[in-house]
Amino acid sequence: MKITVLGTGYVGLSTGVCLAEIGHHVVCIDIDQRKIKNLQEGISPIYEPGLEELLTKNIGAERLDFTTSHLEGLKAAEIIIIAVGTPQGDDGGADLSYIEQAARDIAEHLNHNAIVVIKSTVPVGTNDYIKKILEERLKKDITIKMVSNPEFLRQGSAMHDTIHADRIIIGSDHEEAAKKVGEMYLPLHVPILFTTIRSAEMIKYASNAFLATKISYINEIANLCEAVGADVQDVAKGMGKDKRIGEAFLNPGIGYGGSCFPKDVKALLKTANIYGTNFSMLKETIIINEKQQHLLVKKAINRLGDLKGKKIAMLGLSFKPETDDMREAPSIKIAHLLSQMGTDVVAYDPIATNNAKKVIGNIIRYANSAFEAADGADALFIVTEWDEFKQIDLTRLLQKMKEPIIFDGRNCYGIEKLKSCETLEYYPIGKPAV
Ligand code: UGA
Repeated sequence: MKITVLGTGYVGLSTGVCLAEIGHHVVCIDIDQRKIKNLQEGISPIYEPGLEELLTKNIGAERLDFTTSHLEGLKAAEIIIIAVGTPQGDDGGADLSYIEQAARDIAEHLNHNAIVVIKSTVPVGTNDYIKKILEERLKKDITIKMVSNPEFLRQGSAMHDTIHADRIIIGSDHEEAAKKVGEMYLPLHVPILFTTIRSAEMIKYASNAFLATKISYINEIANLCEAVGADVQDVAKGMGKDKRIGEAFLNPGIGYGGSCFPKDVKALLKTANIYGTNFSMLKETIIINEKQQHLLVKKAINRLGDLKGKKIAMLGLSFKPETDDMREAPSIKIAHLLSQMGTDVVAYDPIATNNAKKVIGNIIRYANSAFEAADGADALFIVTEWDEFKQIDLTRLLQKMKEPIIFDGRNCYGIEKLKSCETLEYYPIGKPAV
């Protein structure tokens, strides 16, 4: 099939590359000229494992192309996928300006009938709204059919999640259009659920808000485990064995971040407010998440007293491993809390330092290795669970530090690893300190 994707962010680029990989002819359009030029040469604007390999392979096979021209990019499209960003607006809801612009661009340049698929995360009713924008502007005699097809990929495993998805959701009021989009995904052999447009839009938000709530729930259980002297990892394992609960997403930590959960929970809450249902549980999910981001600092104050003039090494800056994305990363909050107290913070991240500098700036210092960050530190915070930190030579790390104290926000170390470091004072999440 001939497919055009609008937007080359995480979702658009991953979708475009994977659809080319399963044999479709894909053109990706983006207004950013530099990004498109790099992509044409096989250079990805984001760090995502496996992406560049598939990018190069499919460009070489002439199944994948990139352009800034809507006229050129839309010329042959049977299916047009909108995958532009829907960032958080000033009022907490989703900012639809990019998607509105995408609709105007399609309407202006489309010269044949096509199916328009919205993959961006959009509040309930947006497909109808975008259809209206399109229909008001499309050339005479041109018709489009709308399909809502939300995306569930995770950053850091975008290729895997797209190719081995748990499910594909296709929401449409047109049976024929839904069938065609279903056929586009057939080579993936993934279960497809056909729904109405509004149900498809809701599935995306309901899923993300549920996962965020699951995280806030296990974080509260972790805090309680610490108070009562239980081990949250055993508790989560025991809970997760129940198939109705499931083992995934029960890792406690210092709060969820990223470009999706924080904004999607708020956007769903806004939708609930608009429609007059009081979804107060989501408010708690948000409050717990904000509280959790203070946890390492709170523990450090309990142990070390005033942090003014103390040196803290911070390992990890990105919101999760295998990505350089700093959006809503807990490290931002932690860096600000510490710097406000006059703490000297030296941070290290394997990939995200450049992005972190843009967001956090010079209120903290940046190191080129974990050992450099740890040099002379009064304590060390583990903020992101990169493999590099899980596998690190702890003895060598502790030797660098002034005090061998670790506050681990991601429970990186098992008992075996800890046993090898007798001097270490270790504070995990939801488990007794060692
Ligand atoms: C999330 C969803 O998992 C995807 O299904 C969805 O498609 C995506 O949002 C989106 O809407 O685009 P992502 O934000 O890439 O994906 O990352 P996750 O792996 O879900 O992690 C989100 C946050 O939750 C991270 O900060 C992570 O550290 C935290 N988390 C995750 C926990 O604290 N505990 C867990 O057990 C799992």
